[in-house]
Amino acid sequence: MRNAMDRGALRSVYDRVANRYDFQHAFFTAGSDQRGRRMLVDKAVSLGNRILDCGSGTGSTALLALEKAGPSGSAVLFDMSDGMLAVAKKRIAEAGVSNQVEFKSGDMLSLPFKDNCFDVVLSTYSMCPLYDPAAGARELYRVTKLGGLIGVAHSTDPKNPAMKWMADGVESLVWHIPSISLGCRSVSVLPSLEQVGCEIIFTKNLGIPLWPFFVFVAKKPAT
Ligand SMILES: C[S@@+](CC[C@H](N)C(=O)[O-])C[C@H]1O[C@@H](n2cnc3c(N)ncnc32)[C@H](O)[C@@H]1O
Repeated sequence: MRNAMDRGALRSVYDRVANRYDFQHAFFTAGSDQRGRRMLVDKAVSLGNRILDCGSGTGSTALLALEKAGPSGSAVLFDMSDGMLAVAKKRIAEAGVSNQVEFKSGDMLSLPFKDNCFDVVLSTYSMCPLYDPAAGARELYRVTKLGGLIGVAHSTDPKNPAMKWMADGVESLVWHIPSISLGCRSVSVLPSLEQVGCEIIFTKNLGIPLWPFFVFVAKKPAT
């Protein structure tokens, strides 16, 4: 796994790209990013859930999750970039669901929430830039209620060796342009959730051949 970008530099990249992030991410992933978000929400969110969207960015996943959770649901949008959260606030207000939402900023590696407090914890494409993705996954686990669900989508390596060779080349080039790479690289976090006893209830690979995503839902043990 490639080393992560420095956290301060990463935050200023996201602050800078916030207004064009949605377009840029959808463009480079040919819209498969939104398919991943929809899939996770479909599999993990139920009516009335209290949801954490961790590394929420501009709120795309939280908006879908609130639609599914209905008026009795609620969401906390958590991110380190004030620029991304400002765009999220605007979108949430435009959707008319501000009364169901809280915004918090901070570091995903040290979440300011008690243990076992969310029905569902979602992270779409926000484990990819983390300095320590496995530690990030353990934080998602910690704040999920007993028997609750953790839904993650992240970049993964292409399975085809030729495609992986090309993807590595593209990643090396793009890594020199932080406003395009957004500090994202292929990660793996499922094993750290399995290690702490989660049951894996859904997995799916999707995305374009050069930029595939891995989507999964894990259930925290009920006791
Ligand atoms: C690729 S974007 C994904 C945003 C959104 N979840 C989505 O589906 O489009 C990654 C997000 O993670 C946030 N992020 C990265 N590292 C973080 C950290 N250590 N703590 C909190 N947020 C972080 C970034 O600010 C950015 O908004």
